[in-house]
Amino acid sequence: MKVTFFGIGYVGLVQAAVLADAGHDVMCVDVDERKIENLKNGIIPIYEPGLTPIVEHNHSEGRLHFTTDSKEGVAFGELQFIAVGTPPDEDGSADLKYVLTVAETIATHMTSRKIIVDKSTVPVGPADKVRDKVTEVLSSRGADIECHVVSNPEFLKEGAAVADCTKPDRIVVGTDSDYVEEIMRDLYAPFNRNHDRVIVMDIRSAELTKYAANCMLATKISFMNEMSNIAERLGADIEAVRHGIGSDSRIGYSFIYPGCGYGGSCFPKDVQALIRTTDGIGYDAEILRSVESVNYRQKEKLFDKIQRHFDGDLQGKTFAVWGLSFKPNTDDMREAPSRVLMEALWNAGARVQAFDPEAMNECQRIYGQRDDLTLMGTAETALKNADALVTVTEWQQFRAPDFDLIKNSLSTPVIFDGRNMYNPKRLAKQGITYYSIGRPA
Ligand SMILES: NC(=O)c1ccc[n+]([C@@H]2O[C@H](COP(=O)([O-])OP(=O)(O)OC[C@H]3O[C@@H](n4cnc5c(N)ncnc54)[C@H](O)[C@@H]3O)[C@@H](O)[C@H]2O)c1
Repeated sequence: MKVTFFGIGYVGLVQAAVLADAGHDVMCVDVDERKIENLKNGIIPIYEPGLTPIVEHNHSEGRLHFTTDSKEGVAFGELQFIAVGTPPDEDGSADLKYVLTVAETIATHMTSRKIIVDKSTVPVGPADKVRDKVTEVLSSRGADIECHVVSNPEFLKEGAAVADCTKPDRIVVGTDSDYVEEIMRDLYAPFNRNHDRVIVMDIRSAELTKYAANCMLATKISFMNEMSNIAERLGADIEAVRHGIGSDSRIGYSFIYPGCGYGGSCFPKDVQALIRTTDGIGYDAEILRSVESVNYRQKEKLFDKIQRHFDGDLQGKTFAVWGLSFKPNTDDMREAPSRVLMEALWNAGARVQAFDPEAMNECQRIYGQRDDLTLMGTAETALKNADALVTVTEWQQFRAPDFDLIKNSLSTPVIFDGRNMYNPKRLAKQGITYYSIGRPA
């Protein structure tokens, strides 16, 4: 099938590449000229495990094309995917301007039937806005061309996006048209060999499904962080509690890790956007508001512990920070807890020596050159003469470090661990002062 993607970011590029790998012919359109030029030359703009070979392979085989020419993109596929960003507006609601711009572009150039597939995360209702925009533009052109709008939210996880797209848990399709349902089933048939993963529903339910999924996951994280704060005050160990509750099959082990808060491009903005949606319909989303405020507080947790340890005097101190991305296996630093931590340290007059396996370029792009930030080539060099080590992202390579080396490199042997990666007893024996989340100090 011929498919066009508008928006070649973390979602668009992965989905486009995976569809091309299954044999579809996919055109990728982005307004970012540098990104498209790089992709044409085999330079992949994001770090995502397993993505590079499938992009390179399908591009060279002629099934994956890149362009900035939106007219070419509209002419290419009957299926027109919208995978542009939906960042928070000033009031926290989802900003639909990029989605509506693409809808307008499609309506401006289309000369034959199109199916507009909304893959961007949008609050309930925007499919109507997309349809209205298309109708408005088509009528201003005096054109009468069939156009459908379908909701097909994306559930991939950064860091495991390729696997999530090739073996999705579910493929949600929101449509009221049998024709569109059939086309969408054909498109995704290569991913349904094992069992049918397509779940068809009305458009509004599909849109809400995406928000409900992210809000549920964010709720699990904030709930566990709340428990960790309670455990800390009661002298209990949240890791023992985690094992204790995870063994209950109704609860399960996934997504109940305490830590220094959730970040990324999805949970913070989607929780916020659903709260804003409920404001507009006269419903007070108490749980969601608490999920958000617990998370804000949790992101300050590491800094609070650091400040307490150093009696509020951080002026001139240096901190080794391990992990900048919002989670392992990605270079994405959007809303990352590392940013809250580093900015608080800088405000208090401290310096940061940071290392991340993949997010160093992104960190440089965000913060530029500054005297109080040094990006180090390795985790070990980041420790040199620092007053403490702070671990923020649980990359695999940070899980079993050389504690002798840490102790000898730091000017005072202290670790603040935002992800509970280490054994407190082992570190006590080693003579390292260890702070973690929700465990007795
Ligand atoms: N990142 C995730 O893990 C994830 C997971 C599921 C859903 N989503 C949702 O998917 C959507 C996209 O997220 P993302 O992380 O891929 O965003 P992103 O910021 O990585 O990529 C968006 C891309 O759209 C491009 N763009 C903007 N306007 C355009 C236009 N008019 N025409 C063509 N391209 C245009 C940008 O240049 C950018 O390359 C969002 O709604 C997000 O909430 C993201």
